[in-house]
Amino acid sequence: MIKHESIETNAGLLIVLTLIVISIGGLVEIVPLFFINDTVEEVEGVRPYSALELRGRDIYQREGCYLCHSQMIRPFRDELLRYGHYSLAAESKYDHPFQWGSKRTGPDLARVGNKYSNEWHVAHLVNPRDVVPQSIMPNYPWLLEADLDYSDVQDRMRALKMTGVPYSENQQEFERNVAEFGPAIAEKLDILRAEETLMQQALANDYDGQRSRITEMDALVAYLQVLGTMVDFSKYDEGYFADFR
Ligand code: HEC
Repeated sequence: MIKHESIETNAGLLIVLTLIVISIGGLVEIVPLFFINDTVEEVEGVRPYSALELRGRDIYQREGCYLCHSQMIRPFRDELLRYGHYSLAAESKYDHPFQWGSKRTGPDLARVGNKYSNEWHVAHLVNPRDVVPQSIMPNYPWLLEADLDYSDVQDRMRALKMTGVPYSENQQEFERNVAEFGPAIAEKLDILRAEETLMQQALANDYDGQRSRITEMDALVAYLQVLGTMVDFSKYDEGYFADFR
């Protein structure tokens, strides 16, 4: 009692002791981050976004989709039943900034890839109520009108490369990617060929249903369709899931 009073009535001592207590808490949170590369385990299939998907992700951020949608499935029974396998740290290791989010006005989107057709996404983004009558999601009709600006996509990839995303800019890095991701994907991660591979992916898949153009819709749907599809979970824990079903 007495000791406590002497601390509380002595501002200098109180400040020093407070700082000590806070820095212990801080260290507990910060120190593990120094070892983050060892902490995030490698998971087969996880790869950086292609140029087109990356532009789609930028549009996702520009439009503020994250304000209503999280991308992080928590390891709880109800979440597993609704969305699928819980999110792994490795699945967002190339996401800068990550899109985990903290608000779910709409459903989690971490595994929305391949859940719907491209046509569904286009109709839904133009006017959600055309496909989900009770939806309160806003309309994004301009995505179908706006031509995708990909003149700066190389710079965007270079910026991510600086944060550690393995896009390639020379033969040596390209070969490293071939060894790690296989030739087809390594090609999509090559900064020097970014515009070309972006066009190829958009035209081959025709995400927005307008063959002659590459719109912002193409990029956003390409991004949505890849979410949660990189890791093949059927290989891992069928048994684990069977318990829930
Ligand atoms: C104001 C909140 C809000 C914003 C902003 C918003 N959404 Fe939604 N979204 C919802 C709600 C609510 C639903 C559920 C009803 C529906 O399917 O429309 C939904 C559903 C979805 C679904 C279907 C998910 C599923 O599993 O059925 C997708 C995909 C989606 N939104 C993508 C987007 C994208 C992309 C953006 C940004 C361009 C966006 N949303 C912005 C609220 C929002």
